[in-house]
Amino acid sequence: MPDLYAVFGNPIAHSKSPAIHTAFAASTGQDLVYEARLAPVDGFAKAIADFVADGGKGANVTVPFKEDAFRLATRLSERAARAGAVNTLQFNGTEIYGDNTDGAGLVRDITANLGEVLAGKHILLLGAGGASRGVIAPLLAEHPSELFIANRTAAKAESLAAAFADIAPVGAGSFAQLAGKTFDGVINATSASLSGEALPLPRGLFAPGALAYDMMYGKGDTPFMSQARAAGVARLSDGLGMLVEQAAEAFFVWRGVRPATRDVLAALRAQLAG
Ligand code: ATR
Repeated sequence: MPDLYAVFGNPIAHSKSPAIHTAFAASTGQDLVYEARLAPVDGFAKAIADFVADGGKGANVTVPFKEDAFRLATRLSERAARAGAVNTLQFNGTEIYGDNTDGAGLVRDITANLGEVLAGKHILLLGAGGASRGVIAPLLAEHPSELFIANRTAAKAESLAAAFADIAPVGAGSFAQLAGKTFDGVINATSASLSGEALPLPRGLFAPGALAYDMMYGKGDTPFMSQARAAGVARLSDGLGMLVEQAAEAFFVWRGVRPATRDVLAALRAQLAG
């Protein structure tokens, strides 16, 4: 019997995780099956218990269950504890181990796939929700010279910055407080593009050669990428690479083998474009 894994979310039908992990298993010769499981919004713990009873070895967790998974875990990695959210579960007997590979996936996409150096750079993170929180510690581990969190609700950015201040100083404020500041990298972790709203980014925000990175992805430019392109930015990326890299990191947590990601990412990109 191959080992059983699954991704849990609601909705889950369009998840790319089964295709990604099935490709990883084939390329690394790992004997596993990976499925998508829909959990009721108020029934995550039960869905996981059923999965473990079915022999499930590990799971990925997506919207809206990452905080539920954080609470369900009986042991947490340092990065999951910092993120306050779990996207990767591993079941060992009665232990439920919770990890978070989102931030590692973002950093790996930016550094390995896009070839950008974060060390010594001025980095701006837009948004102060769960998506933002999950990537702060891994970004700080790259030693940017500045990390600033801007959010529509400035108080949320400030409390997030305070929660990481023991690692490194983190700036925080409203979008209006970005006036006069310039960044080498701007990462969008807001959900603004879901409502199609443009972010109030001041003129001169992007340094020459800056990278504009959207943690969302879709066919063509995301709204944030379009906004950055209109502001003269030429280095643009959506978050499809982050999706593949967080999956590779989860695969490594479960199997101890690091799959190559380039072909999987290229195939997903072609699918999106088609
Ligand atoms: P997620 O888990 O995706 O981070 P979230 O916790 O709901 O979701 O956070 C959404 C983030 O997007 C927040 O930072 C939110 O700003 P507020 O904290 O002020 O609500 C931000 N956001 C959503 N819509 C936005 C918009 N139209 N303009 C600017 N920021 C927006």
